[in-house]
Amino acid sequence: MTQELNNTMVSKLLKDLKSLLMNGSIQEPHFQKFSEIISKLHDHQSKEEVKAELSEMRMLFPAIGSDATMQGLAYVKKHGYAGDYEIIDKIYTNWHSDHPEMKTWDRYFHAQLAPQAVRNRKTFFKQWLTDLGSRSTADRIEVLNLASGPCRDLLEFFDETKDFRFHFTCVELDPHAIAFAKELLGTYNSQVTFIQQNIFRFLPQEQYDLVWSAGLFDYFDDNTFTKILARFRNQKHIIIGNFSDLNPTGGYMELIGEWYLNYRSAGKLRLLAKDAGYNKEHIRIMHEPTEVNLFLNIQQ
Ligand SMILES: C[S@@+](CC[C@H](N)C(=O)[O-])C[C@H]1O[C@@H](n2cnc3c(N)ncnc32)[C@H](O)[C@@H]1O
Repeated sequence: MTQELNNTMVSKLLKDLKSLLMNGSIQEPHFQKFSEIISKLHDHQSKEEVKAELSEMRMLFPAIGSDATMQGLAYVKKHGYAGDYEIIDKIYTNWHSDHPEMKTWDRYFHAQLAPQAVRNRKTFFKQWLTDLGSRSTADRIEVLNLASGPCRDLLEFFDETKDFRFHFTCVELDPHAIAFAKELLGTYNSQVTFIQQNIFRFLPQEQYDLVWSAGLFDYFDDNTFTKILARFRNQKHIIIGNFSDLNPTGGYMELIGEWYLNYRSAGKLRLLAKDAGYNKEHIRIMHEPTEVNLFLNIQQ
């Protein structure tokens, strides 16, 4: 494609995007069109014209530039980083704005495969815990949860199973996430110990029945991934979530939300686990129903 054709196409896409957003709203019949424009524009995201237009639109339209919507909340990063406990919990609880126009945007957001995958990983984790509980005859089951966030998964697990043999050690960097989780967990706090620490400084001091982490390793580059994973080589069972490189929502997350992850294929996850010193016989890759969130499952 010549440069000129390229530029004409980008200008046309930006014009189409602007007219879709004309009154700050989006209508359900335009969801598909919006997705198509975003996906095409994403291929040109580094272009100055695209950046300038998006930043102007963010000033004009609260739906994409303020925390009035889910996608705006992703962009604004009011807790200072992408994927904070607040947006994750709002994904879990299917939060929608009360404002009718913003609500339509939130319907669009929640219909995307990435938020669906996040909700599915909560189900995946709870199911895994429930199976572990039904297989175990132990009086106490210890789970290490790395980057625990809002802990809605733990709340629901205890609500649903009342299996108080479980004890969770949650390592979490953000003190606001811990405060939020403690409030949410209420009486279940007795089953949970929080360690407010950067995972980079954390070394496990005991054997856990399960080491779980979702929404953390996909922010790491490959070197950091293997370095941190290698610290758990003495653990019998580790499950690490990572978004797949086939995430169809990636363009929307990056262009509108400036939410960047290190997407990885199943093969790449296996390779990194081997690089971290794990035996390939012990490595399995699993996924939730959308196949957007993969799980590196190491049982040794
Ligand atoms: C995307 S959320 C995932 C939360 C939870 N695991 C879940 O799936 O619901 C990421 C969490 O990781 C925490 N986090 C990010 N970097 C961290 C680090 N270096 N050490 C510990 N926690 C970290 C953030 O504060 C945030 O609460």
